Amino acid sequence: MKSELNLDKMPAHVAIIMDGNGRWASTKGKNRLFGHKNGVQAVRAVVEESVRLGIKHLTLYAFSSENWQRPKEEIGTLMRLLVQSLRSEFEKLLNNNIKLQAVGEIDELPQSVQDELFHVINKTANNSNMTLTLALSYGARQEITSAVKKLGELVKNNLISPDDIDDSTINKHLCTHKLPDVDLLIRTSGEQRVSNFLLWQIAYAELYFTNVFWPDFREQNLQAALLEYQKRERRFGKTSAQINA
Ligand code: IPE
Ligand code: IPE
Ligand code: MG
Repeated sequence: MKSELNLDKMPAHVAIIMDGNGRWASTKGKNRLFGHKNGVQAVRAVVEESVRLGIKHLTLYAFSSENWQRPKEEIGTLMRLLVQSLRSEFEKLLNNNIKLQAVGEIDELPQSVQDELFHVINKTANNSNMTLTLALSYGARQEITSAVKKLGELVKNNLISPDDIDDSTINKHLCTHKLPDVDLLIRTSGEQRVSNFLLWQIAYAELYFTNVFWPDFREQNLQAALLEYQKRERRFGKTSAQINA
């Protein structure tokens, strides 16, 4: 399958909703926390394969604004896993020349997570092979609301006029402003919804859903998604004839 992938037609930005850890664990008679622990290997595999394939931007939905409603114990495990993974994967990020970033309401995260996160973000800031963005305490509506508030302030203070506001002005005030639009959005676990992820940025993304639970997702599953992506015709409102001209 690998040989069929066209390395010149890779999406610039792949975003993944890593879903199904809990259900994966329950098929094994284990608790949800076991599922989260096993999700880490999938992250490692996907990050390494993305670098290998020359994907420039990978964004992973690791914890949503809505996930704060989960049981305290589960949130605690997820936060601890995050700190542990940032520590254990740090060298690999350096060796692969990967730049780590985070989007979301980062100041809502426990201090231990913030400290580890900013440590890795600072140390990898000059890396250039791939940007790995973790969406943490992230919600797209919250992100858009905050952009609208900032623009409202600018208008109120006469720094811009409402007529100045266009796509790019809005984009500039999103926390993903340094990233290109999403080309391919993958969701694992069989759910076919977006769950408040990158609503603005996926306007023209290709959507790919797979029944594979996140802890089972590996290189070959990413390749399958990319292969499907490469078969799609992205028309951006134009006709097929125009695209092929
Ligand atoms: C994804 O798996 C991980 C997070 C949302 C943090 P889930 O924990 O949502 O697993 P399911 O969907 O309940 O199986
Ligand atoms: C979306 O998964 C969030 C992450 C993968 C981090 P959820 O499991 O929280 O989504 P819903 O609630 O089923 O839509
Ligand atoms: Mg889920």
